[in-house]
Amino acid sequence: MRFSKLQLIGSLALARWTFAAPHAHASVKREASKLGESYDFIVAGGGTSGLTVADRLTEAFPDKTVLVVEYGDIEYAAGIFDPPTTLWNGSLGLGSTFLFRSLPIPDLNNRSAVTVGGKLVGGSSAVNGMFFDRGSRFDYDAWAQAQAGERDFDESPEKWNWDGLFPFFKKSVTFTEPDADVAAAYGYTWDKSAYGGTTPIYASMPPFEWGDNGVAREAWKEMGVKVLTECAGGDKNGICWAPTSEHPVTARRSHAGIGHYSAVVGSRPNYEMLVKHQVTRVVYPGGDLKSGPPMVEVRAVNGSVLFNLTAKAEVILSAGVFNTPAILQRSGIGHQSIISRLGIPLVLDSPGVGLNLQDHSGPSLSWNYTKPTHFTPSPDDMLNSTFAAAALSAFDATPARGPFTLAMGNSGLFLSLPALSPTANQTTARIAALGITGPAQMYLHNLYMSAPALLTGYRHQLGALAALLSNPAAPSLEAVFATGTSVPLINLHPLSRGVVRVDPADPLGLPIVDYRTASNPLDMEVYLSHFRYLRGMVGTQALARHGAREATPPASGEGKGGEDEALVAWMRGSLTPSYMHACCTAAMLPRRFGGVVGPDLKVFGAAGLRVVDASVFPMLVGAHLSATAYAVAEKAADIIIRKWAE
Ligand SMILES: Cc1cc2nc3c(=O)[nH]c(=O)nc-3n(C[C@H](O)[C@H](O)[C@H](O)COP(=O)(O)OP(=O)(O)OC[C@H]3O[C@@H](n4cnc5c(N)ncnc54)[C@H](O)[C@@H]3O)c2cc1C
Ligand SMILES: *[C@@H]1O[C@H](CO)[C@@H](O)[C@H](O)[C@H]1NC(C)=O
Ligand SMILES: *[C@@H]1O[C@H](CO)[C@@H](O)[C@H](O)[C@H]1NC(C)=O
Ligand SMILES: *[C@@H]1O[C@H](CO)[C@@H](O)[C@H](O)[C@H]1NC(C)=O
Ligand SMILES: *[C@@H]1O[C@H](CO)[C@@H](O)[C@H](O)[C@H]1NC(C)=O
Ligand SMILES: *[C@@H]1O[C@H](CO)[C@@H](O)[C@H](O)[C@H]1NC(C)=O
Ligand SMILES: *[C@@H]1O[C@H](CO)[C@@H](O)[C@H](O)[C@H]1NC(C)=O
Ligand SMILES: *[C@@H]1O[C@H](CO)[C@@H](O)[C@H](O)[C@H]1NC(C)=O
Repeated sequence: MRFSKLQLIGSLALARWTFAAPHAHASVKREASKLGESYDFIVAGGGTSGLTVADRLTEAFPDKTVLVVEYGDIEYAAGIFDPPTTLWNGSLGLGSTFLFRSLPIPDLNNRSAVTVGGKLVGGSSAVNGMFFDRGSRFDYDAWAQAQAGERDFDESPEKWNWDGLFPFFKKSVTFTEPDADVAAAYGYTWDKSAYGGTTPIYASMPPFEWGDNGVAREAWKEMGVKVLTECAGGDKNGICWAPTSEHPVTARRSHAGIGHYSAVVGSRPNYEMLVKHQVTRVVYPGGDLKSGPPMVEVRAVNGSVLFNLTAKAEVILSAGVFNTPAILQRSGIGHQSIISRLGIPLVLDSPGVGLNLQDHSGPSLSWNYTKPTHFTPSPDDMLNSTFAAAALSAFDATPARGPFTLAMGNSGLFLSLPALSPTANQTTARIAALGITGPAQMYLHNLYMSAPALLTGYRHQLGALAALLSNPAAPSLEAVFATGTSVPLINLHPLSRGVVRVDPADPLGLPIVDYRTASNPLDMEVYLSHFRYLRGMVGTQALARHGAREATPPASGEGKGGEDEALVAWMRGSLTPSYMHACCTAAMLPRRFGGVVGPDLKVFGAAGLRVVDASVFPMLVGAHLSATAYAVAEKAADIIIRKWAE
């Protein structure tokens, strides 16, 4: 993603910046030897989902204890836009993230995907881009469609469709209407009926926009795209304002470490946190998977001594999309070929663990203005020390105002394939055919071949995706804009699938991530449709009046003239393989489709063990993932609480 102008601001040598992390430190434990003998619940991973569950369990059961084991520390990581750092040079550099470089991606000229995960209390919600949107109703209905076909799911009272999740989306956040002057200044609209919760995880409209924000919105309107009042209520095919995950008054980042831990732990003696410890694996004494919950083996991240922790009720894995499957695989739970390469016994054959990896990806459209532009305010203004000093004091004022209150941006275009491409029905017909009898196996990792359920499940997903992408109201493309002269085109529903597996050479280190972006050639067809449509932006009056000229593909001439092959070659060399929205590596799908957990999020075949994080999503949704992670975790907590309240 091109953040150059935003980075410029972040890297300015601004005045001294002090920020007292609003975290409660007192109850945090740093040594396993200081823990209690046992806990009712142990949660592996104090991130977005894990802390949501821990908060709800400690609230519901004052007499039951919950221990969260977190790899990182309790610390402040600068937001993408907080002075004096940026996402790329700030949070990522502070050691508060896991940094993954994928295996070379053959269909992207052997480039690697670079992706990260939060490594601190709050997890990825503490370092993400703060774009806080929900998918469209059809995305979650597609989950239910991908799950249909086995009694576990068909007869379960837990419905993982839009109607089953919407109450938990509402519960998971507090939406605050912007002040009237702010709403009027930027034309913000919203519909309170999409919200209504009081959880201290905040969704707010930032009191700032750059002067050229409206250019993209005007261009999209000229292209005939509908402006929507609200995009969080299930209908999202149009131009959206997305809320930002920030406090409505201070405009500081709101994340799970604050809202689901620091804000509540003071009154919860039953809520404990062990930081700087890695959950290495879970162990069933005697190998008896029926007598759960398992022991939880941990080590200090700077040490090699292993400790067993005892959970009396349940163990919940919430270590994120890369580390949750790694914990399962180190426990001997996974695909037989992956486990055997680790030189450990197969404890439970669950071939889907680490497979089904998906992420948002796509090319970017850029343009140049050939006429002088005078957008005010503009990131260039930050080079003016008077303006920059005013920006800093506005951020510290009550209520906060100014450029630092805007994170990555909050304008988005979401559009369905039929709405943007005259050949949509040919593409979706090919996806459907591939799902039924086509050579789908050709596009999958070899690991799919030795486990027929995985291929069956993938074909079933293709069926659900063909239906989703044919729906004229279900977005396939996302474009986001804050300022500048480029827009990323995000492919919301990829068909390609990657793999996460523990590295046999370093089993406790970062797992090996194999992205395989665009390994399904129909993804390339979708990127192409998106790009052919969105380059139309450059010809709109909104951009033409500033003398806009398309600057992609680059000056080399590759792809000029729009020949598909040249465009494809350019995309292979330039498209972004990860927008940091990885998911789906311990999917909630029927066993006969290679699923790892059931509709109650229990690991099939393993007593007392659940997974609650973005790993359980069956397929990607058309949104940045944090809001969905919170909602899924709220629903999971509700399921767990009902079970133990009996
Ligand atoms: C840089 C970045 C930008 C993003 N931008 C956006 C955005 O703008 N909007 C949006 O909605 N979403 C965004 N996302 C995605 C979103 O934040 C994540 O998908 C979501 O927060 C994931 O939640 P989770 O609970 O699955 O995992 P996480 O929140 O990542 O939590 C996992 C936790 O487990 C811990 N852990 C890992 N391994 C172990 C172990 N072995 N033992 C103990 N603890 C362990 C980690 O340290 C971490 O705290 C972004 C993500 C990133 C990384
Ligand atoms: C990143 O941060 C380092 C140390 O704070 C600083 O020296 C460097 O100039 C920064 N780079 C950018 C691109 O902001
Ligand atoms: C990618 O790497 C593989 C294996 O090294 C090689 O066979 C292939 O030709 C490379 N592809 C490109 C486009 O460089
Ligand atoms: C943890 O418990 C399991 C099962 O009883 C045992 O095999 C393992 O050695 C124990 N680990 C430690 C570090 O005590
Ligand atoms: C590991 O870190 C903890 C907490 O910071 C410290 O108390 C301990 O001495 C360290 N152990 C080693 C082996 O460095
Ligand atoms: C046009 O934009 C591209 C990329 O955004 C840039 O590399 C190039 O220098 C620009 N050209 C002109 C003439 O401004
Ligand atoms: C710098 O910014 C201040 C405050 O916005 C403005 O009054 C002043 O004219 C600017 N100076 C220049 C040289 O643009
Ligand atoms: C595809 O769409 C076009 C126009 O919308 C329509 O005429 C045609 O019949 C459709 N083809 C199929 C296979 O659905």
